[in-house]
Amino acid sequence: MIPKEVAARVKKLRETINRHNHLYYVEAKPEISDFEFDSLLSDLEALEKKYPELIDSTSPTQRVGSDISQGFEQVQHKTPMLSLGNTYSFEEITEFHNRIAKALATPWQYVCELKYDGTAIGITYKNGRLHRAVTRGDGTQGDDVTANVKTIRSIPLVLNGNDFPDEFEVRGEIFMPHAVFNEINEKRLRNGEQPFANPRNAAAGTLKQLNPKVVAERKLDCLVYYVLGDNLPLNNHYEKLQKAKEWGFKIPNSIKHCNTLNEVFDFISHWESEREKLPYDTDGVVIKVNRFDQQEQLGFTAKIPRWAIAYKYKTEQASTKLLSVTYQVGRTGAITPVANLAPVQLAGTTVRRASLHNADQIELLNLHVGDTVFVEKGGEIIPKIIGVDTTLRPINSEPYKYITHCPECSTELVRLDGEAKHYCPNQAGCPPQLKGRVIHFTSRKAMNIDGLGEETIELLFANNLVHDIADLYDLTYEQLLKLDRFAQKSAENAINGIEKSKQMPFPKVLFGLGIRYVGETTARTLATHFDLLSKLKQATFDELILVDEVGERIAQSIVDFFASQKNIELIDRLAKAGLTLEMETAEGNTKSNILNGQSVVISGKFSSVSRDELKELIVKHGGKNTSAISKSTNLLIAGENMGPAKLKKATELGIKIISENDFFTLIKS
Ligand code: IVH
Repeated sequence: MIPKEVAARVKKLRETINRHNHLYYVEAKPEISDFEFDSLLSDLEALEKKYPELIDSTSPTQRVGSDISQGFEQVQHKTPMLSLGNTYSFEEITEFHNRIAKALATPWQYVCELKYDGTAIGITYKNGRLHRAVTRGDGTQGDDVTANVKTIRSIPLVLNGNDFPDEFEVRGEIFMPHAVFNEINEKRLRNGEQPFANPRNAAAGTLKQLNPKVVAERKLDCLVYYVLGDNLPLNNHYEKLQKAKEWGFKIPNSIKHCNTLNEVFDFISHWESEREKLPYDTDGVVIKVNRFDQQEQLGFTAKIPRWAIAYKYKTEQASTKLLSVTYQVGRTGAITPVANLAPVQLAGTTVRRASLHNADQIELLNLHVGDTVFVEKGGEIIPKIIGVDTTLRPINSEPYKYITHCPECSTELVRLDGEAKHYCPNQAGCPPQLKGRVIHFTSRKAMNIDGLGEETIELLFANNLVHDIADLYDLTYEQLLKLDRFAQKSAENAINGIEKSKQMPFPKVLFGLGIRYVGETTARTLATHFDLLSKLKQATFDELILVDEVGERIAQSIVDFFASQKNIELIDRLAKAGLTLEMETAEGNTKSNILNGQSVVISGKFSSVSRDELKELIVKHGGKNTSAISKSTNLLIAGENMGPAKLKKATELGIKIISENDFFTLIKS
């Protein structure tokens, strides 16, 4: 039984957190500090952990995203998601206006909105709670991306007020704000990964991520532009959007009533330059007839409404001279070509560089030495070269030839089958790779070593004090003090930071090693599965691919990593330095021994607990959670939509399969 006061406290906490979440993410008017917000959230988390029966899929704690990998179910849209007629000219808007004048007998009003440049979403609410979110897909059916959408803080999980229909749908645009896009792309470039071409691609790509945890980290946002569903005493679009704002949705203030065509043109002209100041991309203006009865009279063609039209701004382009192509080497050895340009003004900034992504891109553009190129910045931060002005090409100029050797260490580059990028294979000696690995190791998401920033690491390399990550643990206070950048306090900080990192849990160390393709989530999965680094080291390719979410590419990369004698020596030195190379045991934290030593695999989605919580429960009851089914598996807890391959294998091996409910009955017994 849950004590009454606990249930009340949980309810109150949820309401308070939802209110502050809205103030922060929708209204940008926070009333409490991040610290206070986090404490409220952790109070709620603690209570939900203690009383798992209280967990609710629309609790604010569920926004972080679980580790569940989901394929996407295809869902039919109740009302098709149509697109809009597009135009780039005021003449065509005048024609649109004249067509309406012919069809309507009564005066009408327009609502002008910005056209948000992201990816469309339809979100259904039932009884005030987020029910399902579906992408546009082909307009008739799309992907169910509910788990991903729930991580977006500006989308309410539970609505404010009580005057919403029992069931209705909002449509809106999911986008990635500029600041987030910049941050992610800078990081991708540093890691030698392909940057996203623009925030729209980044948002669309993120929404289709199979792992909601990754989505949560990418900090998407959403603006609502349309509300479906009747049973509201409102007869027009503008008031319906304002109502949706009261329920908690993010509706920008840029929306405006326009009574005449001239007011529409003014709106378009005003926002043509003003939109550059917005923290997100817009690519035009949508003009809608406001009243629903008039919208109905105008109706639809087969594909588009007759009561709305999109005016698209021309994307800004400029032409400039390509001065050179240079090549950056990331920490994994991936090569990224960069175009260096004669400085040119574009969308309010001076552009000097554009990413060329890879060799195919250079070939596709057929870039020649001395070319004049067109650069485009459709709101995206990294401008791209969209073509060459061949009329200005110098006579006899040669096409650009992609480099064959590393610009930093002269090693011959390799390009693996099916990979877009070239790599420098000299992992052991290429300076930016060596430095990049140390920078990655010390970074916040890996070992989080305070006092060792990128510049400091450069300095340690320049002074021959560090060549690899294990060298960090041999550094002394006296050595640091001799360097320019260091004073007593900063040297102490760095040494303390390094010392403290020895307590970092095993998954962080594993991620910090920088094994190609082993990101944060994979590192966590591998650490939990193998328990000890020494076991992972010995794992074969065949054993590795049986682990959840580990495919052939990752498995091969792990095998290659441990096949290198240098890496083995490095790990031995890390072990000697005292780093954590195994998972902590759950000793002292046991609730029962009912699963005594049994190896338990979980698969699919669970309704009352998250996968992480379920894993914890298995350990607390004496069991061991493993990721892959094998002969030694004793029990399989099957959730919703579990993978057919797992089910087949478990049946073949005669493993006992139980449901989530069976499991709870078992541990309660
Ligand atoms: S209204 C039936 N309003 O533009 C009317 N759409 O081609 C439905 N979009 O993919 C659309 N901002 O996702 C509308 N303020 C806005 C919009 C907007 C962006 C997108 C929408 C759709 C495309 C329409």
